[in-house]
Amino acid sequence: MVTQGTGYRDRMNIAIDGPAGAGKSTVARMVANRLQFIYVDTGAMYRAVTWYMLNQGVSSESPELVLQLAQNMTIELKPHEQGQMVLVNGEDVTPFIRSHQVSAAVSQYARIEGLRTKLVRLQQEMALGKGVVMDGRDIGTTVLPDAEVKIFMTATVKERALRRFNELRDEGITLEQLERDIAQRDRLDQEREVSPLRCAEDAIVLDTTHMDINQVVDAILSYCET
Ligand code: DC
Repeated sequence: MVTQGTGYRDRMNIAIDGPAGAGKSTVARMVANRLQFIYVDTGAMYRAVTWYMLNQGVSSESPELVLQLAQNMTIELKPHEQGQMVLVNGEDVTPFIRSHQVSAAVSQYARIEGLRTKLVRLQQEMALGKGVVMDGRDIGTTVLPDAEVKIFMTATVKERALRRFNELRDEGITLEQLERDIAQRDRLDQEREVSPLRCAEDAIVLDTTHMDINQVVDAILSYCET
């Protein structure tokens, strides 16, 4: 089994895509730790932009304004014990980007073409040196079409809602509401014109509905060996 990354780091990128709540970020972080790769959570980048725009009162209905503001905005990802810190214009916004408010709005901003172009370019730069595990929706298809390992992680809407529910227990949101939100987010992510969520032809599909996290991590590590 692979536990040390030294031999892999300079010659491999790993793309992990899939719908909301499939467990991508937890798994991607664990795979990165095991291989000593850099973990890049691209959803956090879209969330950070969304948080910033909401904070500035700029609606996704005004894409020109969003782009104008995004032009002078810096986004940095920094490794952190609990995963990754996200900085916007130097300010740590990590605690705010997973709020229900940001989750509900992020798909609307992620549809803006110019914004995607900017973030995709940034993500591609991060992966130039290889040794990156990147998770998102369009990594295997658009951001890193040449990634050496491509995984498409899924799970049923019910199972994904349940996993989120267990994470958010204190936020007073019901399981039914989460199911509706996740189904709606799937629809928006799949139907948008620019870089929709879809499985790359050469990706390995992992249905994690009946798998625990360690089983998923081990499965991905085994694909890296072949
Ligand atoms: O993975 P996540 O739930 O943190 O992603 C937040 C949102 O960002 C999700 O609704 C879709 C969008 N996203 C995207 O469009 N492209 C990516 N590469 C990553 C996320």
